[in-house]
Amino acid sequence: MLEKTSKTAKITIDGTTVEVPVNKGSLGPDVLDIRSLYKQTGLFTFDPGFTSTASCESDITFIDGDKGELLYRGYPIEQLADKSNFLEVSYLLLYGELPTKSQYEDFSGKVTRHTMLHEQMLNFFRGFRRDAHPMAIVCGVQAAMSAFYHDSTDINDPWQREVATIRMIAKLPTIVSWAYKYSIGQPFAYPKNNLQYAQNFLQMCFSVPAEEYVVDPILSSAMDKIFILHADHEQNASTSTVRLAASSGANPFACIAAGIACLWGPAHGGANEAALNMLKEIGSPDRISEFISKAKDKNDPFRLMGFGHRVYKNFDPRSRVMKQSADEVLELMGITNNPTLQVAKELEKIALEDEYFIEKKLYPNVDFYSGIILEAMGFPTSMFTPIFALARTVGWLSQWQEMISDPNIKIGRPRQLFTGKTHRDYLPYEKR
Ligand code: SDX
Repeated sequence: MLEKTSKTAKITIDGTTVEVPVNKGSLGPDVLDIRSLYKQTGLFTFDPGFTSTASCESDITFIDGDKGELLYRGYPIEQLADKSNFLEVSYLLLYGELPTKSQYEDFSGKVTRHTMLHEQMLNFFRGFRRDAHPMAIVCGVQAAMSAFYHDSTDINDPWQREVATIRMIAKLPTIVSWAYKYSIGQPFAYPKNNLQYAQNFLQMCFSVPAEEYVVDPILSSAMDKIFILHADHEQNASTSTVRLAASSGANPFACIAAGIACLWGPAHGGANEAALNMLKEIGSPDRISEFISKAKDKNDPFRLMGFGHRVYKNFDPRSRVMKQSADEVLELMGITNNPTLQVAKELEKIALEDEYFIEKKLYPNVDFYSGIILEAMGFPTSMFTPIFALARTVGWLSQWQEMISDPNIKIGRPRQLFTGKTHRDYLPYEKR
């Protein structure tokens, strides 16, 4: 809950002083409440990339970038990854508390019974080229849900908001797995209600009609943990995109499609695919210094993918959990000395001892190790970001629900610092 303080900030411009109130939350930096600044001073604030801007008030996820701390509704990500499961974490993010046993059974039962897609949606998959990037398919089919689930698009009806939320959490694994099956020319596998969430996703990805598929518990446990680690992350670019789309009153399926589109970028969720491609391009530890030099070269646009973060100026706690999980999964799968993992560990060690990375506080982020596990599980790199989108859907929906249920919701409409041509009159050809 936002709390007013007795503190204010005085801003003096051209001899006029205005006082700006300072508000505080339960954790993190206080804020200057500048909502009336333009009315009082005729001035905008200027903050491209929103490096110093709190866009909203939220109770869901807290990040302390200096400490490398991530809390979902107050619970440390390390504890949730170790002790919980993705559907329980989904309930926590959506409703604010860990569920009782009966609440969990009710919620997971609802999700289980919404995993199938409207059969006619199969036609959307078949309209894509086989070599379409799975993110293009996932983004397109997600938006197309607006055309099929008309009974859950009215954002003013709490029941419809709840149904849309359950539908998307339930159906994204089906959409993502079918995008994969379509890209490899295999038949779609339907969800099975007797399987847990992560197990079901793996069987939809890797089972074939020609033989029985038994889900490997090592893989389903690792998959579930990867979903938990990616579920939410405060006001990142894609969540802010979902919030901005939702502020116009757009239907929930369209808002989540907007989030998927934003996540695709290599500076954001696309970094897991880019990071593994980079590690493979490096190929062996003796080429690491060449890439570190490129990353440090101001004239070279190359950046170490999976490194650095807008908020974390310490280890991303998710990358620590992911690194440990990578060791466990590869060992349990009998994959010893995986060259890509060796390069990743050596790269991390060298970078963290390098003055450039120390001074700029650049550490591995969630995307640095995730690709190594996903590849070992059998996924191609093109499937890494769709899996990120699958997991982040519950975070986007939690943030969307929080925003839509705020009675003071306003459409997001930033202003600008205009630096273009001042007023001028139209000129005919002969005068140009
Ligand atoms: C995700 O926001 C979230 O929460 C996102 C996310 C989530 O869960 O939603 O955590 C998921 O998107 C993780 C980030 C994945 N992206 C990458 O791994 C791509 C590589 N990283 C960079 O592109 C960069 O670090 C960003 C985009 C992640 C953050 O960029 P910022 O905050 O805008 O920082 P910046 O670009 O201003 O960098 C600060 C300095 C710059 O040098 P100077 O101009 O000050 O001299 O650090 C340098 C940058 O050049 N730098 C890097 C670098 N990242 C930043 N140099 C080399 N390699 C890098 N990876």
